[in-house]
Amino acid sequence: MKVNRIGRSIGAEITGVDLENLGPQEFQGILDAFHGNSVIAIRDQDLEPGELVDFSRRFGPLEDQLNARYALVEHPEVLVLSNDMKDGKPVGLIDGGDFWHSDSSHREKPSLATILHARQNPRHGGDTEFADMYRAYETLPDEMKKRIAGLKGIHAVSKAKNKRVTISARRPDAKDHYEMQKSIPDQAWPLVRTHPVTGKKALYLSARFTIGIEGMSEEEADAILDPLFEHQIRPEFVYAHKWKDGDLVIWDNRCVMHRGTGGYTYPDVRTMHRTVVAGDRPF
Ligand SMILES: [Fe+2]
Repeated sequence: MKVNRIGRSIGAEITGVDLENLGPQEFQGILDAFHGNSVIAIRDQDLEPGELVDFSRRFGPLEDQLNARYALVEHPEVLVLSNDMKDGKPVGLIDGGDFWHSDSSHREKPSLATILHARQNPRHGGDTEFADMYRAYETLPDEMKKRIAGLKGIHAVSKAKNKRVTISARRPDAKDHYEMQKSIPDQAWPLVRTHPVTGKKALYLSARFTIGIEGMSEEEADAILDPLFEHQIRPEFVYAHKWKDGDLVIWDNRCVMHRGTGGYTYPDVRTMHRTVVAGDRPF
């Protein structure tokens, strides 16, 4: 097994490993690469959904999928992300992840990791970008570090509650979906969290999910959030993954944000299988 850094501060590729036959020592190697690089791309994998679930569970229990209608019937832990159509209807979630975010930060127990397996890559576009939230925190001016210490961001799942995002017109049911989600309770998490394994501090907020700061007016909160949102996606923190056939990518939601960059149009099809590893309450 070989691990090569491919991004500046995050992102590594792993070759020479077969996830269908993975010994405990090799898994430990993958885990170490995951903690050391925050985003890892394991090349040349051909996993059936059941095998993807078995491998994913080695990281911990899996989350149930909020968009259950696009999960696989036989493997409900696997969500289909796709722009493919069948009988005029989408076969998967089309507009997933188009704004910067950390998966499930709106949940009571936000996600530890997300695993994406490329089933079909488009001929154009379809990159996934990742931003290093350790570096984003480390490079903040001391004044800002002091200002945000102890503050909690409010995370909301519904796009209808967030003035910084728009609802995709490509998904016919999206508007009703987000209206319905308005009643789901928000969560409050430290703007700076400590990674439970590495012990390092990371910025933990995103334009997609963070809509305010606990105990602050909108105006006060915006004066802090807007510069942070701008800072945390500086190009030097970003690794853009260009997908190869057979790629399986795992990222650490506790210390990276991500987004899909789009740039492909049906009938140029992009299909991914996704599992999400559940995490603990950020501190
Ligand atoms: Fe995501």
